[in-house]
Amino acid sequence: MRVAILTVSDKGSRGERVDESGKIIKEMMEKEGNEVVFYQVIPDEKRLIAKDLRILVDNEKVDLILTTGGTGFSLRDVTPEATLSVIDKVVPGFTEAMRAESLKITPNAMLSRAVSGIRGKTLIINLPGSPKAVRECLEVVLPAIPHGIKILRGEGGECATK
Ligand code: MTE
Repeated sequence: MRVAILTVSDKGSRGERVDESGKIIKEMMEKEGNEVVFYQVIPDEKRLIAKDLRILVDNEKVDLILTTGGTGFSLRDVTPEATLSVIDKVVPGFTEAMRAESLKITPNAMLSRAVSGIRGKTLIINLPGSPKAVRECLEVVLPAIPHGIKILRGEGGECATK
C-alpha cells in the first residue's frame, strides 16, 4: 500500500513539538511492508487539512491516508470536520472499532471525534494525537485495512461467497 501520513498539530507545524506520533505510524506501516510516500506536519486549519487530503487523493492517488491529531475537544481541533468535507463515503467501522478497544484502556477514548471515510479509491482514517493513542488505535484497525484497500482498487475477492 502507498501510505500518506498527515500530522495535524499547531505546535508541531511551528517546530515547538517533536512529532513522535507520525514517526510511530511510519514505523508501524513500514513494518507491515507498506511504502510511506508522503509525510507532513500541518497546523490545525480546516482549509489546509482538506486541501492536503484532496491533493493526496486526486493527484498522488495514495491508497491510505492516516491523520494524527486534532480529533478532540480543543477549539482548534478540526481534523474530523476537514475529513468529512472531502470524503464521498463514511466508513464508521474503523472508528467504532478504535473507540470500542480504546474504551477498554481509557474512558478518555470517548473524547476522540475521529472519523474514517473514502474519497475516490483512497481510505482516510483519523487517529488521535498522542503517541500512546496512535499506537493503540492503529493496532486495532491494521488487520482490516489491506482487504478494504484491495476492494477499493477493484482487486477484492468475492466476500459474499465465503
Ligand atoms: N485512544 C486511545 N486508545 N488511547 C488514548 O490514550 N486518548 C484520548 C482519545 N483517544 C486516547 C485515545 C484523549 S485524552 C483525547 S483528548 C482524544 O483521543 C483526542 O485526541 P486528539 O485531540 O489528540 O486527537
